[in-house]
Amino acid sequence: MRTAQHLPVEVAGLGSYLPERILSNHDLEAIVDTSDEWIVPRTGIRERRIAADEQATSDLAVAAARRALQDAALTAKELDVILVATCTPDHLFPATACLVQAAIGPTDAMACDLEAACSGFVYGFVYASGLIASGMADNVLLVGAETLSRVTDYTDRRSCILFGDGAGAAVLRRTRNGGELLYAELGADGSRPEILEIPAGGTRLPASHQTVDERRHYMQLQGREVFKLAVNKLIELMQRIPEQTGIGLDEIKMVLPHQSNVRIIKSALERSGLEMEKAYMNIDTVGNTSAASIPLAMAEAAACGKLQRGDLALLLAFGGGLTWGSALIRY
Ligand code: ACO
Repeated sequence: MRTAQHLPVEVAGLGSYLPERILSNHDLEAIVDTSDEWIVPRTGIRERRIAADEQATSDLAVAAARRALQDAALTAKELDVILVATCTPDHLFPATACLVQAAIGPTDAMACDLEAACSGFVYGFVYASGLIASGMADNVLLVGAETLSRVTDYTDRRSCILFGDGAGAAVLRRTRNGGELLYAELGADGSRPEILEIPAGGTRLPASHQTVDERRHYMQLQGREVFKLAVNKLIELMQRIPEQTGIGLDEIKMVLPHQSNVRIIKSALERSGLEMEKAYMNIDTVGNTSAASIPLAMAEAAACGKLQRGDLALLLAFGGGLTWGSALIRY
């Protein structure tokens, strides 16, 4: 367990971007042997967005980043750091963050990617806060962006129903208006990578005709195992908030969970004594967008007025790696 408390960091602006193309459960019925009736009760997902052929992750990230900068009334030139949390980068290198830097510039902000799968945005939030608290940065652009459709096997009904594309961005800055990172915890367990992985295409199993024929460059997941581990870890993360901060879970205005599966979130919240209404959910329209899911939900919650300045909000994530994290913020 790695924790941080009371860092002088606030969210100055938020932005999001979703590709136009919608892939509904009914569309999936024509591709694999599944049904809307199977998918909705088990996942909460009705539709997801799919990037256009010419769009890659950096394109989605740039669109969200521009909106976040506008919302923060900041120019790219004023940024010190650009972090992109993604497990579906444009290339193995250069980093997607460098492509974002070039597109939103001019800026001489440092730029790099961060890979913690579905926990990437929470990890990024804590990294950015550390850079700000240490004095190394005043303004950080943090983007969570994914084009999961490119690594989704649309012949595998157990996984292809879950994932969608999108990007969400936050401009984080040294506190001026009372915002704060009150408490954060990050963790990982790398001992069981096979639970959620893309086996081929890296240096362990470089892309070859064989790996492509065997469909090993697509995401593979052991859904049941992920489900159990996610629920238990999210409960643990929530339990530690009152223990470590003295802040009761009932004082939290909104939980912004990684949108993995509505049943995972419902089960974790209810077993922690929280009503499902506490969670901001948009999984029904966007599916699981990995690192993009929390900033997408956060930007939407702020835009519709459900998340307001001064509110206590809990960011909560669990994902591949395995990785997990919580961040309690005053928005
Ligand atoms: N349509 C119809 N039937 C299906 C489908 C589908 N899309 N998918 C699986 N089935 C069938 C299976 O073939 C199986 O049938 P069988 O018993 O005849 O073989 C049966 O349904 C049960 O299959 P399971 O894979 O055990 O289904 P489960 O109830 O576990 O639900 C799901 C699958 C929805 C993926 C669930 O495990 C889940 O949500 N897991 C966690 C989410 C997850 O893994 N996310 C990955 C990212 S990590 C994260 O975001 C936390």
